[in-house]
Parts: sequence; C-alpha cells; structure tokens
Amino acid sequence: MSVRVLTGITTTGIPHLGNYAGAIRPAVAASREAGVDAFYFLADYHALIKCDDPARIAESRLSIAATWLAAGLDAERATFYRQSDIPETTELNWLLTCVAGKGLLNRAHAYKAAVTANLDAELDADAGVTMGLYSYPVLMAADILLFNAHRVPVGRDQIQHVEMARDIAQRFNHVFGRDYFTLPEAVVDDHVATLPGLDGRKMSKSYDNTIPLYCTPKQLKAAISRIVTDSKLPGEAKDADTSHLFQIYRGFASAEASAEFRASLLDGMGWGDAKQALFALLDAELAPGREHYQALLQRPDDLEDILLAGASKARAIAQPFLAELRDAVGLQSFRRTHTSTKTAAKKATSGPRMVSGRDHDGQFRCRLRTTSGEVLLTSLPYADGKSAGLAAKALVAGVDDWRTQAEGYVLWQAAVQVAEPVTTEAEMATVQAALAELRAAQDS
Ligand code: TRP
Repeated sequence: MSVRVLTGITTTGIPHLGNYAGAIRPAVAASREAGVDAFYFLADYHALIKCDDPARIAESRLSIAATWLAAGLDAERATFYRQSDIPETTELNWLLTCVAGKGLLNRAHAYKAAVTANLDAELDADAGVTMGLYSYPVLMAADILLFNAHRVPVGRDQIQHVEMARDIAQRFNHVFGRDYFTLPEAVVDDHVATLPGLDGRKMSKSYDNTIPLYCTPKQLKAAISRIVTDSKLPGEAKDADTSHLFQIYRGFASAEASAEFRASLLDGMGWGDAKQALFALLDAELAPGREHYQALLQRPDDLEDILLAGASKARAIAQPFLAELRDAVGLQSFRRTHTSTKTAAKKATSGPRMVSGRDHDGQFRCRLRTTSGEVLLTSLPYADGKSAGLAAKALVAGVDDWRTQAEGYVLWQAAVQVAEPVTTEAEMATVQAALAELRAAQDS
C-alpha cells in the first residue's frame, strides 16, 4: 500500500533559495520514492487570507507552479493542482466548520498572536482579524482530509494546524459514527537545510535577505556578493562554523566538497574566492531548472493545462468522497439513486428494489421503490440499520398475506404485520406486481 503524502504551498511570494532547499527539493525527491503517492498543491485560497493584492497572488501562483515543475516535479506521477480548482475543498470546509470547536480555533497560534498584538497596542482583541484568518486551520484540514493524506510535510510553524486537522477529523468520525477520515500526521524533516539568509538570519522574504532561485546568473552573483562575512583578509584562517556563507555552501555540496571548502577557509581562502566558489556551485545546480522555468513562464497555457489535468486527477477522488460525506451528514439525494446505500449501488440497473436506510426520526426502515425512486411500500421501523437490512431481505423472501383492515391494505408475513398500510386496492396491486418483479429478478 502506498503512503499518501500531501502538502500545500501558499501563493504569496516568489520562491527563493531557502524555499528550494527547505521544501521544494525534498518534496520533489519524496515524490519520486517508491510507495509514495504525492499530492502537492498551490494553496491559493490560503493566500487570499494573507494578501489582498490580486497582482501579487497571480504572479506568485504562476511562479510557484513553474518553479515546482522546473525543479523536477513529475506532474504525471504526482498529483499537482491548485486548491481553488477543487470546489470540493470549500464544500468540505463547511462540513468541517460545523464540527470544529470554536474553542479549538481560539487556540491557533496565528490567531492568538494577532490578538496579543492587538491587546498590546490597546486595540480591540479582534481588530483586523478576518474570518479567513480565524478559520485558516479548518480550510487546511479540508485540504488534508479531502484526500485522506497519511503524511503532511510542513515547517514547524504548521504542526499545530495538522494537529487541529486530526482533532477535527476525529470529531467528524465520532459524530457521524464511522472512520470517514484518515488521521494525518505532520512530518517535519530535521535533515533538510534551513538556509541562513544574506545577513545570517533565517532566509526569509520578510527579512529581505533572500537569494532568488531561478534568476539570471548576474542576479545570482549580485545576491551572493551581498552575503555578510567577517572582515578577515585573504591568508587569515576562517572558521567555517561561524560562517553562514559556508552553511549555504554545505546545503548544496557533497560531504567531501564541503570538507574541502572548510579546509580551504581554515587555510586562508579569501571571502571573494569563497563567494566565487559558492556562485559556481549554485549556478551549476540551478542552471537546468532556470531554463526550464523561463520556458514554462513563456507558455502559461501549457501550465494551465498541466494544472487542470492535476485538478481532474484530484477531483476523481474528491467528488465521490464528498458525495459519501454529504450522505453521512444527511444531505443525500431524495432519489437515493447514487451510491448512498450499498443496496442501491448493487442493484443499480432497473426494476423495483428494496432499500433500507435511516430516517429523520432516527429509525431505520426499508422501502420498496420503483427504478425512479418512488416509494411503493414502507416497512415498520427498526432501531438499527442491520435489523432493517435483514427485514428487507425477509420481506422479499417471505410469503405475502394481504389483509384488509381499517387503515387500508396491510401486508403480513408469517403472522406479523411487516409494512405500513397502503390506501387503495390499486396501490396494493402495484406493490404486488413490483414484489413479483423483484422476486423474479432475484431468482434469475
Ligand atoms: N498553511 C500552509 C503554510 O502556510 C500551507 C497549506 C495550506 C498546507 N494547506 C495545507 C500545508 C495543507 C500542508 C497541508 O505553509
């Protein structure tokens, strides 16, 4: 059995080298492992929570889509799609919203941080907090649970969200009495490089210390030249462990090459030469992807096709699953012609059928229905589905004894009443004909 690995990428920025080393490269590698069924998507609905600049959202979606493909993601093998192309996500979001505790969401780190900042600034606790921000973890739970992901690779800041997805899944499973959802697990890879930025702090857009990913060689060189070093001169021994230039180098070099680089620094290699070596290393790693990236950006129609194909793959799973979930909460079709009950699915063809199910009063009944779903006969109520199922079988197998009573025509079998009365003789005749047809079909 394969392991379903799923993760989302919020589309608010242009990927940089830190994103590449910390998330993209390991995710692409994981998607190629045997036994891994990777679902990677652009979390563009989540992006709207953080950003109300349409141009930035649009640019970021395009850039992130092209980046992942250029970095080697095989869209045939993995399922690669945009969140906003999967309407089932927002539908599930609502079903989950209805079981998610408000108290649970009150505890979300991002929301709590916003409240704390507001209170510190002597503002209303919820000033500037949108329902999107507040419900962020529910939407994320919908992303994960819709595909029953086993493992969710995330950064540390997202662990709580995955735990909330588990809580919400458990609650849904409990309320509706079945394990509809797999409980996902957050996976935080401690081995992947968290790259320092130009100034030594974590590489991040908010610190303006990033090295761009698929930029021109000239831009790459310019960024590298801005890496902050100590003021040791060429010839002086330099300590690799305190150098973030070395940290970046190590994120891309083999163990031997890193050891050599370390020795050269200790040996007095100048920072200029060190930067030149880093440039050569990065340029070699990024050149193929860079070309592919530029080519993809020239062909946005092709990108669109790739992502829509990914969405169809994903929806082939999401649509039937959502239908099942709608049934679970009571939003089934009045026709009962789709897969809502196993009995209906098995005898889907044509002719009358006997279908049992749970009614609004919580009781279970079986009903004799025409192909189009019209009810001809309703059994007496049963406390559980199993009894109703057995009753349905017994009713079809039994010997009929129609009695004329005050309420109408009543079907008895083996000296007990088995169904609600029907009012007219014509209705009784229809039931008799339908039962005969059903029995004939079963015998054949
Ligand atoms: N919230 C995640 C982040 O900011 C992005 C995301 C959205 C996600 N939906 C997800 C990650 C589902 C994993 C699974 O990084």
